[in-house]
Amino acid sequence: MKINPVIETLLNHRSIRKFKDQALTEKQIRILVESAQAASTSSYTQSYSIIGVDDPKIKKQLRAIASDQAYVEQNGCFFVFVADQYRNKMIGETSGESTAVLNTTQRLLVALGDACFAAQNMAVAAESMGLGICYIGSIQNDIDKTSEILHLPDFAFPFFGMAVGYPDQHPEKKPRLPFAAIYHHNRYNPAPDQNSLKAYDQRVADYYRMRTGGQREETWTSQIADGLGRPYRKALKPYLERHHLGLR
Ligand SMILES: Cc1cc2nc3c(=O)[nH]c(=O)nc-3n(C[C@H](O)[C@H](O)[C@H](O)COP(=O)(O)O)c2cc1C
Repeated sequence: MKINPVIETLLNHRSIRKFKDQALTEKQIRILVESAQAASTSSYTQSYSIIGVDDPKIKKQLRAIASDQAYVEQNGCFFVFVADQYRNKMIGETSGESTAVLNTTQRLLVALGDACFAAQNMAVAAESMGLGICYIGSIQNDIDKTSEILHLPDFAFPFFGMAVGYPDQHPEKKPRLPFAAIYHHNRYNPAPDQNSLKAYDQRVADYYRMRTGGQREETWTSQIADGLGRPYRKALKPYLERHHLGLR
C-alpha cells in the first residue's frame, strides 16, 4: 500500500520536549485552532475551548504546576484544552431551557471526548507543518491553581495542555504495542499473547536504555505495574463536583 503524507505524519509522531526559542505566528495559531475545530464533535455540541498561552508569567506558573517541565514554559505556544460546558450553559440560560443535563456523566464524557478529538487534530496539523508537540497532563497536578490562573468558570475542566513549537531535538520513535495486542477481530480477546508482550518489553527496555545512555532500565509492563500502585491526582473528583461536572 502506498503511504500518503497524512499517514506518514501520523506514523512519524514522537513527543518533542525541547523547542527552539521561536514563537508561533498568529497565522500558524489560527491554522492550528481551525484544524482542531474541524474534528468531529459529539451531537455538534463543540463542548471544549482552547486557551493559547504565550504570556511568559502564566507559562512560568503552569510550568511550576507541571512538575517543572521546562518545555511547558519554553515552546512556540502553549495550548490548554478545556472540556467546556460553560458556553452551552449560557445558551441554555438565555433560551430559558433547563441546563440540568450538563451535570451528567454522559455530558462530561462528551466534553472530554470533544477536547481530545480537537487536540489530536491540532497535533497532527502541527506535525504536518514541521512543528513538534507534547501533551501535558501534569497541568492537573494542581487543578485548582491551573483553573484559577486561566480564570476558568464553573462547568469547565482544564483537561491537558499541549506544548507546540519548532523541534530542537529529534528523539527516536517510542515503540508501540504489537498490532495484535491492540486489535481484536469481531470479538474481544482477553488473552494477550505473552510472548509478544515479552518481546515488546525487550524493545521498550532497549529504547529506554538508548534514550538515557543506559540510565533507565524499564520495561513497559513494569511501568504499567508501578503506575497501578500509585494513587494519582486525588483532587480531580472534588474539582469536578465543585464545578458541576459529571454529577449525575
Ligand atoms: C493526555 C496526555 C498527557 C501527557 N502528559 C505528559 C506530560 O505531562 N509530560 C510529558 O513529558 N509527556 C506527557 N505526555 C506524552 C506521553 O508521555 C507520550 O505521548 C507517550 O509516552 C508516548 O510517547 P510519544 O508521544 O513520543 O510517542 C502526555 C500524553 C498524553 C496523551
